[in-house]
Amino acid sequence: MHESGIQETRESGVGASPAAQFASLRALGESLADGRLELAVVVPTFNERANIPVLLERLATVLAGISYEVIVVDDDSTDRTWEAVRGVAAHQRRVRVIRRIGRRGLASACLEGMMSTAAPYIAVMDGDLQHDETILPKMLTTALQEKLDVVVASRNTAGASMGEFAKERVHLSNLGLKLSKLILPAAVSDPMSGFFLVDRRFVDEVVYNTSGVGFKILLDLLASAKRPVRLAEVPYTFRTRETGESKLDFATGLEYLYLLLDKLIGHVVPLRFALFALVGAAGVLLHLGTLALLYRQAHVSFMNAQVAATVVTMTFNYLLNNLVTYRDARLRGGKWLVGLFTFYLACSLGAAINLSVSAQLLRSGLPWLFAGTAGVVLSSVWNYGVTSVITWRRRLGGRNRAV
Ligand code: GDD
Ligand code: MN
Repeated sequence: MHESGIQETRESGVGASPAAQFASLRALGESLADGRLELAVVVPTFNERANIPVLLERLATVLAGISYEVIVVDDDSTDRTWEAVRGVAAHQRRVRVIRRIGRRGLASACLEGMMSTAAPYIAVMDGDLQHDETILPKMLTTALQEKLDVVVASRNTAGASMGEFAKERVHLSNLGLKLSKLILPAAVSDPMSGFFLVDRRFVDEVVYNTSGVGFKILLDLLASAKRPVRLAEVPYTFRTRETGESKLDFATGLEYLYLLLDKLIGHVVPLRFALFALVGAAGVLLHLGTLALLYRQAHVSFMNAQVAATVVTMTFNYLLNNLVTYRDARLRGGKWLVGLFTFYLACSLGAAINLSVSAQLLRSGLPWLFAGTAGVVLSSVWNYGVTSVITWRRRLGGRNRAV
């Protein structure tokens, strides 16, 4: 009697096996079911307050026969887009909003939205009404019927158009397209599109390989796949923006290069380390230049010239790393000063390591080039490791993503 009592609690209670727990959860889900979710529409926003209500209304019309939800991922817009969406979401359960604090980035916003839904298919589209929402049902049926991983809403195939895109924007876009071929095996006419639909299983499959940096989330997803992607394109006309402004700027271009680099070399050496090393290499040139200037031209003593060149170089490296390598963790104000100080300290120790290791190796009979290289490599790794944790306060052991 007593034993069967225990048995009963085991079947569905806390002590039950995981399989039994899942089974009872599933049963609970079925008993509470209020409809099956077919589609999620993820909309990244930054200052789109005027556009979002219009988009939500248009989606309601065009997706009338489909069970869908909309997830607006807002990076704490200064025009309080998130507040406006919450106003709608309070009355409509199919509208949700994620307000991200202290984060910026179109690609990472899309990824976060995609990770937050249980829908089997996920569409991603801009919140500024430039993407033609009326093709969404066609994208979904295409994906379902042809069992596709991805359906791209494409501006470049026959029947599509770039709309009234500014001339230089078209040139830039074409250049980006050419560069994308470096990392993309698949034949896609518009891999830079911000409008597409994916099977959630595909996202789950590739999400660990994504870079999550910049504007080009589709390209990131496609280039992260380890197998041929089942894909189709649906043409549409890219509309002109009526209110608000494009967030595409110089930094976006830079981030695009990051994405390409990360996809090209990220699996060999972490992109951040590669950038840190590049900055260091530029620093070496600057050091030698300053030294030449002070020692040869201004006739400062060699020791003093060395010290001055070291300080100049460390400051330059700190500035550049803070701007580029750690742009996502950029230090400002008081933290900037503390950062500079810890950077000086870490790199001085790095220099000491370099000197003592290379001297030691040389003494033990190794060729000077080997001893010198080993010293530089060791001190670079030291500088990188220590400053990433202490100066820019990155976590140890986390996956080394570009963001
Ligand atoms: N959450 C978040 N965070 N959203 C952002 C951010 C950000 O940092 N930056 C931009 N967005 C949102 C905008 O509010 C808009 O809804 C959408 O992302 C696209 O931004 P735009 O600034 O309008 O980009 P675009 O029109 O120049 O370029 C878009 O369309 C092209 C063609 O499809 C982008 O989607 C490009 O990637 C795409 O190639
Ligand atoms: Mn736009």
